[in-house]
Amino acid sequence: MSKIIDLRSDTVTLPSNEMRKAITSAKLGDDVFGEDPSVNELEEKAAKIMCKEAGLLVPSGTMGNLVSILTHCARGTEIILGDKAHTFVFEAGGISAFGGVHSRQLKNETDGTINIQEIKSAIRMDNDHFPKTAAITLENTHNLCNGSPLTPEYIKDVAQIAHDNDIKLHVDGARIFNAAVSLDVDVKNMVTGVDSITFCLSKGLSAPIGSVVCGSKEFIYQARRNRKALGGGMRQAGIIAAAGLFSLNNMLEQIREDHENALRLAAGINEIEGLVIDLENIKTNILYFDFEKGKARGEELARQTKNIEIYPCEIALNNIRFFESKPNRFRLVTHYGIIDDDIEKTLESLNKMVN
Ligand SMILES: Cc1ncc(COP(=O)(O)O)c(C=O)c1O
Repeated sequence: MSKIIDLRSDTVTLPSNEMRKAITSAKLGDDVFGEDPSVNELEEKAAKIMCKEAGLLVPSGTMGNLVSILTHCARGTEIILGDKAHTFVFEAGGISAFGGVHSRQLKNETDGTINIQEIKSAIRMDNDHFPKTAAITLENTHNLCNGSPLTPEYIKDVAQIAHDNDIKLHVDGARIFNAAVSLDVDVKNMVTGVDSITFCLSKGLSAPIGSVVCGSKEFIYQARRNRKALGGGMRQAGIIAAAGLFSLNNMLEQIREDHENALRLAAGINEIEGLVIDLENIKTNILYFDFEKGKARGEELARQTKNIEIYPCEIALNNIRFFESKPNRFRLVTHYGIIDDDIEKTLESLNKMVN
């Protein structure tokens, strides 16, 4: 059977044999009692990498963002975030459902930034009528905005605004290492002045489960309590942490390769008549392209072309899988497990699809 080339997301990666070995030989204990040596090692290492005081292992990026926002924002307060932020679009409204946090969405530009002036103007004045602004959150890299990396300078500017107004800055850094590699910057410089950061082990770093939240000791103390309340206290979580440690020690180089593959894929798509891509936007492992012909939704594309099946929002073109993000727009994500040959095969199939 030929290989499924799965370009839906970098979350589909499977652990390598070496990672599986690290998992089976992990030293374990009860992490809810603070006694799992692998978890403790991972949390300390993550905090050091991010130059923060402490870290906290959580099961997912979604929980990392939720725990962080619940820690920064009391019920009825407001958080400023982008209208394309993962937390706003894809996290089931958790900050509102579980935290009573009011969201103030500002427009995300195509590079994932939010206009600085708009952020300043969105901070509420102290008045009985308004919810109190408690935090700002940014996403780096920005998933829905072409996987764009935000620069350290931009992050510092937003941190300055937050602190001048006595509010907190959280970064959803699910792919912060992709941002750091893309800009060739040490990752700690991507979170200078940031009060909390969540980064994912289970995306480009290709661990099976887990994210880490980093921040001050005081923040992590309260975040740990919120994690427990959400049911995220895990017992022998060293099983997960061992994979995460393996990722941080061995998988960073993979991210560079993923970016090169995305660029090659994009360059190939750019050559295919009928597909439209902006090469300027390809900075990391996420790329979006448009289908020119007839402004089609996936279903229509299926009718017009052969060898293509459609599931809700998902395309299976021969043995290549990817997402339809909105009518006429498709997303491909490169990751561990995608090799040169897969790029060639994908381009061949896309070419056949439109021509
Ligand atoms: C930018 C961003 N933040 C957060 C998440 C949530 O991560 P998880 O799927 O681990 O909950 C994702 C998942 O794709 C993401 O892309």
